[in-house]
Amino acid sequence: MFKKNRIIKEEQVQFSIDSIYRGHHEVTYKGIKAIRCPFDYVIYQMIINEVKPDLVIEIGTNIGGGALYIADLLDMNGKGVIHTIDIVDMVDAKVREHNRIEFFTKGWLDYDLELTKGFNNILVIEDASHFYQDSIGILNKFHNVVSKDSYFIVEDGIINELGLEKDYKGGPLKALREFLPNHPEFFVDRKWCDMFGINATFNVNGYLKKK
Ligand SMILES: C[S@@+](CC[C@H](N)C(=O)[O-])C[C@H]1O[C@@H](n2cnc3c(N)ncnc32)[C@H](O)[C@@H]1O
Repeated sequence: MFKKNRIIKEEQVQFSIDSIYRGHHEVTYKGIKAIRCPFDYVIYQMIINEVKPDLVIEIGTNIGGGALYIADLLDMNGKGVIHTIDIVDMVDAKVREHNRIEFFTKGWLDYDLELTKGFNNILVIEDASHFYQDSIGILNKFHNVVSKDSYFIVEDGIINELGLEKDYKGGPLKALREFLPNHPEFFVDRKWCDMFGINATFNVNGYLKKK
């Protein structure tokens, strides 16, 4: 975060991907850490309202602030549940209480796709380790359960822009480059990616709509 007492020129405006990246680690929802880019919060709200999913699968729970936000959006729709998956159980007590959230703590590989049976409108969010191997594995495992006209959201392709591509072995963008040519049933929905500027999102080319 910027130092609170630093001197700024009057009416100065100065922000960048780096400053938004620093800030997004400070974001909370209802007081709970909810690591997501602010642009993407707005986009999520609009997508959940548009799609009105009956099941959201979020891979990567962390403290659960993101899951809580989505669960509240489902509340506003009056329907839907969220299956949120992690490899650790560090969920805030307030999140645990929400009756639209179901928790899975054995990782995405262990999640049984049979659990999606009976749902008609499924949206999937890949927000796990951001390593290429996880990203491509998640895309390959979950793409079939995404419903027509719904989304597969792949988080945090922004790591390339931040110079972290090598650390993540190519990250989500390498996975997308590999996945998309083999899956013409998905297209990158520019409506969301470019809403605030070209790929002005942390989910670079990451809003995949199913035809
Ligand atoms: C960026 S955080 C998720 C943030 C969360 N979606 C939110 O909105 O606050 C990434 C999470 O992915 C989890 N993760 C790492 N490997 C995973 C795996 N194999 N399956 C599921 N989750 C995994 C990490 O433990 C971590 O909590």
